[in-house]
Amino acid sequence: MKSLLITRPIADPVLAQARARFAVTLGKGPLDEDAAAAALGAHDLILPTLGDAFTAAAFRKAGKNPRCRILANFGVGYSHIDAAAAAAHGVVVTNTPDVLTDATADIGMTLLLATARRAGEGERMLRDGRWGGFGPKGLLGTHVTGKVLGIVGMGRIGQAVARRGHFGFSMPVIYYNRSPKAVDLPARQVADLHELMRLADFVVVTVPGGAANAGLIDRAAIAAMKPGGILVNIARGEVVDEEALIDALAAGRIAGAGLDVYLHEPHVPERLRALENCVLLPHLGSATVETRQAMAQMALDNLIAFAEGRAPPQRVN
Ligand code: GLV
Repeated sequence: MKSLLITRPIADPVLAQARARFAVTLGKGPLDEDAAAAALGAHDLILPTLGDAFTAAAFRKAGKNPRCRILANFGVGYSHIDAAAAAAHGVVVTNTPDVLTDATADIGMTLLLATARRAGEGERMLRDGRWGGFGPKGLLGTHVTGKVLGIVGMGRIGQAVARRGHFGFSMPVIYYNRSPKAVDLPARQVADLHELMRLADFVVVTVPGGAANAGLIDRAAIAAMKPGGILVNIARGEVVDEEALIDALAAGRIAGAGLDVYLHEPHVPERLRALENCVLLPHLGSATVETRQAMAQMALDNLIAFAEGRAPPQRVN
């Protein structure tokens, strides 16, 4: 039986299938670079996830032709894997697109609504026993219906957020995407990121992480936002300048932020946690029972295809 390392526990039914086909080792926590390099030498197949540091250095340490020939990533985003370095070392990388699109778009809307309507603040107030009852001026938030929704990155998840905004909340949708992109709903592509930041009441960031988009939402882009604008990040922490965002929130330059991702997860800066005008979730984008099971199944199906000599369907490198 081939040896398979699954770096974090996955849905039981999929784990049972994996155990029936492979000699499974179950990891307990994220692999740092050294552990990732060691794992490449110790197993035939690996099912890694966010936080496992399969960097270029890890591949270098593992040597030219490591025992492991495939990383079937659990997750659509794979910026924790250097896919080019993997290819150079003869390692196939796959991911789990599509199955998490709706769950992640739902978290985008959860953050948008919760931030606009100050739901986190309200909940904290109530639980702390600080709620003094209904009042005409109590915890007034930002109206959502009919406001301009700006999407940064009009891929699958961006389009799913746009559909929710357009059909559910009558929001005019604008989007910024590096390449021209036609979509099947009324939405206008803007050529310039700063124009989108200026026009949108809500900016939802959904671009892939990694070097190509690191720092895309920089200090200048945040400064271009409307006073009273709200930023939602469901992409990756590195896409947004975290310090600049905290500065804008602390100064009240924008109304709020809804974040599901952070620069150095699971670390969330104390300054950010101290602010009332942001809603902070612990990377819940795909966290539904159904979605996480579908992701695990997709990752395993890629491994099985590879082990049987077929092309893994979700290959990315
Ligand atoms: C989660 O963030 C993923 O990339 O699947």
